[in-house]
Amino acid sequence: MPEQYHDNTRPLTTAAGAPVPDNENAVTAGPRGPMLLQDVWFLEKLAHFSREVIPERRMHAKGSGAFGTFTVTRDITRYSRAALFSEVGKQTEMFARFSTVAGERGAADAERDIRGFALRFYTEEGNWDVVGNNTPVFFHRDPHHFPALNRAVKRDPRTNLRSPENNWDFWTNLPEALHQVTIVMSDRGIPDGYRHMHGFGSHTYSFINAEDERFWVKFHFRTQQGIKNLTDAEAAKLVAGDRESAQRDLFDAIERDEFPKWTFFIQVMPEADAKDYRFHPFDLTKVWSKKDYPLIEVGEFELNRNPENYFADVEQAAFTPSNMVPGVGPSPDRMLQGRLFSYGDAARYRVGVNHHQIPVNYPRGATNVNTYHRDGQMRVDGNQGGVPGYTPNSYDRFSDQPAYHEPALALEGAADRYEYREDDVNYFEQPGDLFRQMSPEQQSALFANTARAIDGASEATIERHLNHCAQADPAYGQGVRRAIEAHKAGALGDDDRISELV
Ligand code: HEM
Repeated sequence: MPEQYHDNTRPLTTAAGAPVPDNENAVTAGPRGPMLLQDVWFLEKLAHFSREVIPERRMHAKGSGAFGTFTVTRDITRYSRAALFSEVGKQTEMFARFSTVAGERGAADAERDIRGFALRFYTEEGNWDVVGNNTPVFFHRDPHHFPALNRAVKRDPRTNLRSPENNWDFWTNLPEALHQVTIVMSDRGIPDGYRHMHGFGSHTYSFINAEDERFWVKFHFRTQQGIKNLTDAEAAKLVAGDRESAQRDLFDAIERDEFPKWTFFIQVMPEADAKDYRFHPFDLTKVWSKKDYPLIEVGEFELNRNPENYFADVEQAAFTPSNMVPGVGPSPDRMLQGRLFSYGDAARYRVGVNHHQIPVNYPRGATNVNTYHRDGQMRVDGNQGGVPGYTPNSYDRFSDQPAYHEPALALEGAADRYEYREDDVNYFEQPGDLFRQMSPEQQSALFANTARAIDGASEATIERHLNHCAQADPAYGQGVRRAIEAHKAGALGDDDRISELV
C-alpha cells in the first residue's frame, strides 16, 4: 500500500481550503427533516462530481501510459541535428501511451485492433511526439477518409452495435486498405499486452542535419520482450476474466521493476531518392523495403515509472505529431499533413486551450518556454506576467531563432485535388509479399481470423474482399474463401492451425 494512504495528518478541506467538519452527514432540519441548501460542502461535492468526466479521445480512447528514459546508443548526428541525439549515452525523459483504437474508454484491452504507440520525448528543445501505431502502414492515404474510417469501425448509428458490414464495406471500398487489413487479421492482430509488440512512426518524416541536408526517415521501435500475440479464442477467454489485461500487464511489470524496453531504429532515404523510388515514398499504405533502406540503430527506451495518478497523466496526455523539434520535420505525406492539424485541435476541445500547462504535457525538458499565447480558460502559470504580448516590439523579448530555419523544400505542380489512385494503383503487391512471407500456420491464422471477423457482412462485401485477397495472391483469396465456407458450416473451430486450408 503506498505510503500516502496511511497519512492521517492531513485534514479534509473544501476546495477553497476551509475545514470540513463532517463528510458523512448532510445538514438537515431536525434528525428526520429535509436537507438545507446551506450545506455548501455537499453542493460543492456534487457539482464537482458531475463535471469529472472529460470527453474521451475520439479514437484510441482506451489506453495505458508510463514514464521512462530514452538513451542514445549510436551516433546519428550525420542525419539529424536534434539535441536529443547529440551524443551517445545521452538520456532524455519520456512518456508513452499505448491504446486500442476503436473501443471506447471502457472497452476490453484484448481486442483485435491496431494498437496506438504514442511516445513523447521531453527534450531541451521542446517536446517531440512520435504518435505511432504497432503497424508500419495504415488503412488509407488521404486524410479525408479518416472520419469515415472511425464511423465504419465504431458503433452503428441505429443498432449501437459494432457492424461487420460497415467495417468491411468501408475497408473493401478502399483497395489500398488491404495491407493494413492483412496485418490486423494476421496472428499479430491481438498483441498479448503492450510490452510484446513493436511500434512504428509509420509515416515518412524528415531529418535535417547540421549541414542543412534533408533525409526522409521512418521510425521503428522493436520490443526487447519478444512478440507475443493472442489467438481469437485466447483473447475471448482472457476478456471474459479480465477486460484490462494490457493495463494490468504493463502496470504490474513496472511495479515489479521489470522495465519493458524497445530498441529505436530508423530507415533513412536521401532526399533525392524520393523522386524515383519504386513505391510512393510518402504513401502510408506502403512500407520501404529493408533491403533498400536497412534499419539503423539509434538507441533504446525503457518504461520505468507508473504515473501516480491515471487521470492526471494518462487521460490528460495530449500528443500531437506537430510537436517536433529542430532536426525533425514532416514530409509531404498528406495523412501526416492532416494529422498536424487534427491533434492540437482535439486537445483544445478535449483538455482545453492551455493543455500545455498540465505537467504531462508541459515541455519539462525545454531550456526555454516563451510564447506570446495569452489568456484562455484555466491559464494558471502566471500568463507570462507583464511581458508585452505583441510583436514586433522594441524590447527584443522572445526573439525569433533563425538558426533553426529549415532548408527550403522544392515543390512543384499546380494546386488541385489529385486522385492518389491515378498516381499509384499498386495496392496488392505489398500485402501479397507479406502473405508470402508468412509461415503456413500464420497464413492459416489469417484465413480463420478473417472468416470470423467478416462474418455478418453482406455477400457483395465478402466477394469484394475475396477479390482483393486473390489479387494479392491467389492462395490468399482461396484460403479465406475456404475458411469462410468452413466457418459457415461450423467447421472452423477455435484452432487457427487448420492446415488443410493452406
Ligand atoms: C489519436 C486523428 C491517423 C495514431 C487521435 C486523435 C485524433 C486523431 C483526433 C485523438 C487525439 C486526442 O484526443 O488527444 C487522426 C487523423 C488521422 C490519424 C485525422 C489521419 C488523417 C493516425 C495514424 C496513426 C495514429 C496514421 C499512427 C501512425 C494515433 C494515436 C492516438 C491517436 C497513437 C492516441 C494518442 C494518445 O495516446 O493520446 N488521432 N489520426 N493516428 N492517433 Fe490518430
